[in-house]
Amino acid sequence: MPTTSDIRDLSAGAQAAIAAAADLRALEELRVRYLGRKGALTEKLKSIGALAAEERRAYGRQLNQLKKEIQRQLQNRRAALQEDERAAGIARDAVDVTLPGRGAAPGGVHPVSRTLARMEEIFVRLGFAVADGPELEDDFHNFTALNIPPGHPARAMHDTFYAHPPSCGLLLRTHTSPVQVRYMQNHKPPLRVIAPGRVYRCDSDLTHTPMFHQVEGLVVDEDTSFADLKGVLVHFARAFFERDLEVRFRPSFFPFTEPSAEVDISCVFCRKGCRVCGHSGWLEVLGCGMVHPAVLGHVNIDSERFLGYAFGMGVERLAMLRYGVDDLRVFFDNDLSFLRRFR
Ligand code: PHE
Repeated sequence: MPTTSDIRDLSAGAQAAIAAAADLRALEELRVRYLGRKGALTEKLKSIGALAAEERRAYGRQLNQLKKEIQRQLQNRRAALQEDERAAGIARDAVDVTLPGRGAAPGGVHPVSRTLARMEEIFVRLGFAVADGPELEDDFHNFTALNIPPGHPARAMHDTFYAHPPSCGLLLRTHTSPVQVRYMQNHKPPLRVIAPGRVYRCDSDLTHTPMFHQVEGLVVDEDTSFADLKGVLVHFARAFFERDLEVRFRPSFFPFTEPSAEVDISCVFCRKGCRVCGHSGWLEVLGCGMVHPAVLGHVNIDSERFLGYAFGMGVERLAMLRYGVDDLRVFFDNDLSFLRRFR
């Protein structure tokens, strides 16, 4: 037989448990424990069927009151817990807006990339297209097609990195000239193209790194000439250094050009001789010449009808001269105190 004191106990127990519920999950467990289908209060409500009529009414009313009371307490506690959780979330995600900012650190374009972009821009304005080729090159394109057959002494001068096994016939290109060959294999003249890119030589000192960049130039047309080559290079040198410097062509030798020349510019650092120009007043900046007929022959261009000129220059060398850097290796040290000057 249920009694009034049972109800009091149940009420007190529920009230204490609800007040002590630490979180929403514990509270939900309490709701099930008291009001769920098998809950303590539900069981009691079921049992009143066995009571006499007037007992049932009095007792039923008390139980229903208790049920409403427990629902009210659950609801209040739930609201309080939700508020606690919200406040805790805000505290957790709080940002101290009074702290000093970390600031954005803007990057900069690497001096070599900057120089490449500058060179490309000058040539593109002269009507040159821009091409590239593989850095892992085959023997034919790097040497043979450029009139450097197997056994030619010029091969020994190239400090080539060969890929393994030697029978694969691949190497890291030693210059950008193989792109001349690839471009002529895939395009019909007239051609007017530059090929910027990385090249590799087994060499390392103050002015050499095993990897460096070149910009190759190639023009093939019916009526081009050494005079055109000179005009383009003089224009380039003056545009690049933004001054009216002198340009000097010295006879030289490359297997893939004939005649060939090495090009010097008047020293950008001095008037009558300094350490950089070796007290000569001149700086060597590139190699060039008229494309050798044998090279045109390798790519099936009629050398009776077409004439070409080509040039190749070192990008780091030009960057060093333009920015007054005297050690080429700093371009590849990733030293931020150096690189930050180019922001
Ligand atoms: N490929 C030559 C070198 O790396 C440069 C060059 C290019 C010379 C084109 C003549 C014509 O030294």
